[in-house]
Order: sequence, then structure tokens, then C-alpha cells
Amino acid sequence: MFQQHTVDFADKPAAYRELAGQLEALLAGERDLVANAANTASLIWHGLPDLNWAGFYFLKEGELVLGPFQGKPACVRIALGRGVCGTAADRRESLLVEDVHAFPGHIACDVASRSELVVPLVRGDALLGVLDLDSPVPSRFDETDRAGCEQLARIFLASLS
Ligand code: SME
Repeated sequence: MFQQHTVDFADKPAAYRELAGQLEALLAGERDLVANAANTASLIWHGLPDLNWAGFYFLKEGELVLGPFQGKPACVRIALGRGVCGTAADRRESLLVEDVHAFPGHIACDVASRSELVVPLVRGDALLGVLDLDSPVPSRFDETDRAGCEQLARIFLASLS
């Protein structure tokens, strides 16, 4: 049985290294997309402080469709180029939004959300989807979170092949 240890975010880079190691151990030996996405969302949800949503959207027939997540029920379909998720997916670049109210076209799945970090999942030339994290705290995410979550997304992607 996998046991998640509490990570101390007083040292953020160290905390992300610890989470990355936990995620590698959690996903080892399993390649199933839904299973690994579900466990990744859960590990992030329990590992990172101050989140109100953590999960995946996967690209299906040209739009993003809700995947495994933790948090309140969310919007199911997001067009490429729409909202924070669709914009990050379209640009294939992670997007850190300090104040979602100031982001044109932000899609409010949960009115409590104030800041957001979206990491696109790209395999070779193919866009697989996005990893999306929301927080009720304004400016919750910084560049260390961006780098840390990009690393978690790479570990998730690597587990699939
Ligand atoms: N806020 C996102 C939509 C997804 S939910 O936050 C889970 C967006 O603007 O794309």
C-alpha cells in the first residue's frame, strides 16, 4: 500500500522534489491513463496546501474534456483557446494566473477560485490535455510551483509509456 507522507512546504523546492519522488513511486509499474491521472490528482490534492481543485482535462475530438480530479464538480468541456485551460493548451505553455478575475475569459467552475496554474501535457508532437490546479488564495502559485508542477506533469506523462 502506498502511504503519502506530509510534505513541508516551508522549503518549496525541496517539497516539490519530495512530491516528485512520491509520484514516481505511486505510478511505478502502471501505465493506465485514468488510473495514473486519478492517483496524480489525489497526490497533488493531498500534498499541496491551499488548493480547491486539482485535476485533468484530456483532449478529445478537438476539445478539452474533464478527466480525473479532486475538488468540486467542474465544467466538462472547454474549447481550445478558451479559459485558462484552453489558452494554456492552445499555446502549449504552462500558464500561471495570479488573479483569475483579471484573466479575460476565465471559466469559473468554482466561484471560490482566485488563482490558477495550468500545465499542458505534450507527448512528442501531440497535445494530450492539461493538468489544472486552482486555489482560493490570490497569487497562490509562483515560478517554483510552475517548475514543480511541470516536473509532476512530466512524471505523469512518462508513466504512460
Ligand atoms: N478555470 C478553468 C476551468 C477549469 S476549472 O477551474 C476546474 C479555466 O478558466 O480554464
